[in-house]
Amino acid sequence: MESRKSRLDRFISVHTGINRRDVRLLIAQKRILINSEPATDINQVIGQFDQISLDDELLQNNQPIYIMMHKPVGVVSATVDEQHKTVLDLLDCDNKEQLHIVGRLDLNTSGLLLLTNNGEWSRNLTSPEHKVAKRYHVTLENPITDDYAPAFAAGMYFPFEDITTQPAELVKTGEREAQVSLTEGKYHQIKRMFGRFRNPVIGLHREAIGGLELDCGLAPGESRELTMEEVELLS
Ligand code: URA
Repeated sequence: MESRKSRLDRFISVHTGINRRDVRLLIAQKRILINSEPATDINQVIGQFDQISLDDELLQNNQPIYIMMHKPVGVVSATVDEQHKTVLDLLDCDNKEQLHIVGRLDLNTSGLLLLTNNGEWSRNLTSPEHKVAKRYHVTLENPITDDYAPAFAAGMYFPFEDITTQPAELVKTGEREAQVSLTEGKYHQIKRMFGRFRNPVIGLHREAIGGLELDCGLAPGESRELTMEEVELLS
């Protein structure tokens, strides 16, 4: 995701056509307000959610949006798709064209999906350095044996990408059921990890991202905005 930050002089010039050199004059005349305070520095970095005005004209007034969805099976984690209904099609909110998906789920995976217009927030959640755990409930075709958990914890080598997966936690919750926590999201990762044991995944559901659990009041296909506490929990 591209950075939505820009220096003040560039920002004003792009939004108004005013020459970047003339921005100094506007600042000296206190005609530019940043979050209701007069701007003081042409080099000031403008974030996506800073409110910017020139005289009485609002040049930027974006509000952050954070949505939790219970993604159903059969809906694609994309903003447009020619074949399938997308998660955006399920949303009934203004400005949905601004949103992007924070960590996709496969077509036949259900569960917690986050959408936002805040690129910085989503980068923190998905970047490998932050190691935010994503917890899944997995249903398998065949019984899980004792050698699974150590193999998940040790990491598995995927020759196609030439990577070894980060340590993952597998807790057996039934003969054919497990809770798996990953701190990354490689392509079809869980299915491929169980594939090493020739054990097909027949159900996959994301229950939590970091400390945020899927709201059990949301039926498949439903969504709601996150509370400020929930946003902070993942910041
Ligand atoms: N692992 C998978 O295989 N699929 C998902 O959707 C998520 C994790």
